[in-house]
Amino acid sequence: MSKEYKSAAIIGLGGQGRSHNTAYMGLSNVKVIAACEVSEERLSAFIDENSDVRGYTDAKDLFENEDIDIVSIVTNTPSHRDLTVAAVKSGVQAVLCEKPMAHSPAAARQMIDICAEHNVRLAINHMRRWSPRYHKLREMLEDSLIGEIGNLIYVSGGALFACIATHIFDLMRMLTEREIISISGRFDAFRRPNFRGTQYHDPGGHALALFDGDTRAFIDLSENLGVPGWFDIHGSLGRVHIEEERGIWQVMARQGNDREQPPWASRNTLQPVDFSTGGENWTAVLQVGIVELLGGGEIMSSGEDGYAALEAIVAAHISHENDGTPVALPLTGDDLSREFTFT
Ligand SMILES: NC(=O)c1ccc[n+]([C@@H]2O[C@H](COP(=O)([O-])OP(=O)(O)OC[C@H]3O[C@@H](n4cnc5c(N)ncnc54)[C@H](O)[C@@H]3O)[C@@H](O)[C@H]2O)c1
Repeated sequence: MSKEYKSAAIIGLGGQGRSHNTAYMGLSNVKVIAACEVSEERLSAFIDENSDVRGYTDAKDLFENEDIDIVSIVTNTPSHRDLTVAAVKSGVQAVLCEKPMAHSPAAARQMIDICAEHNVRLAINHMRRWSPRYHKLREMLEDSLIGEIGNLIYVSGGALFACIATHIFDLMRMLTEREIISISGRFDAFRRPNFRGTQYHDPGGHALALFDGDTRAFIDLSENLGVPGWFDIHGSLGRVHIEEERGIWQVMARQGNDREQPPWASRNTLQPVDFSTGGENWTAVLQVGIVELLGGGEIMSSGEDGYAALEAIVAAHISHENDGTPVALPLTGDDLSREFTFT
């Protein structure tokens, strides 16, 4: 007899684990039945609020005792690989893993491989891939609304380069449908402890990425920046400007005969294009990802996408160690085994 609903488990009950719980709670065909958190204090606070969820402090016990269809891995990055392997071996159907995907490219590859071998659906929570608004933007870019994309620039305070840039590299790959071919990066001397724990190291820094097809990208998440996220895309016929936190989405493009002019005829010809503004409902966006994982179709935020974003970050660190020398992608050899304590 088939179950009335799919059973879910959440591993890791920090702020983001709770966000996953909120997303599951809004869905009728899936129910969180178990949760795991090494901090007894965090676990008992969660169980107090969610009394029908069984709590564990060791994921091994959870997987041994529960019949789980989908697991959210919402711990810090260094444990993502081992928890994914344990989940797959226990027989789950789907893994929704937080970003950055893993502590090394080799570990991320193991996650992809073991999921493929056991027919387990794997998604990485680069949630913009499930956002209808970003999908609309991608369609407009595909239709050449702003022409050839020349560059993409993302600037934000808050540092934690890997934590944020994993989203941004992924978003840039999604919007351009292009692959990164080389990265140069520089990181700041480590200034402040990581708020998720002093055992983690994810300094601020900046990176210049080259994509195939002559597209450039610059991501600046340096420690000395104190501004909210700001994302610009510039093309041969227009530009896009996004400030997610302020709900600002501006699309400007040449119209009519101006579109026939060469790119260098760049007098002030850009006209606003209708585009929905306002804040994103990230819970609803995550729900799209969960429903997709529980279904049988294409996974929009795949393990391979998570791997590509992680690889770009690792390349930026390798470049930094070599005085900013560009590093070619894909990474090969010993670079794949480089390990990091991102969160
Ligand atoms: N997609 C997004 O927009 C988004 C937003 C915030 C955080 N995140 C990601 O989610 C993850 C968690 O972020 P957070 O802010 O909740 O961090 P956090 O440090 O507050 O919480 C992580 C929790 O996992 C627990 N944990 C660690 N190892 C564990 C293990 N082996 N078993 C059980 N519990 C374990 C820790 O004790 C901690 O309570 C990180 O990978 C982070 O990058 C993603």
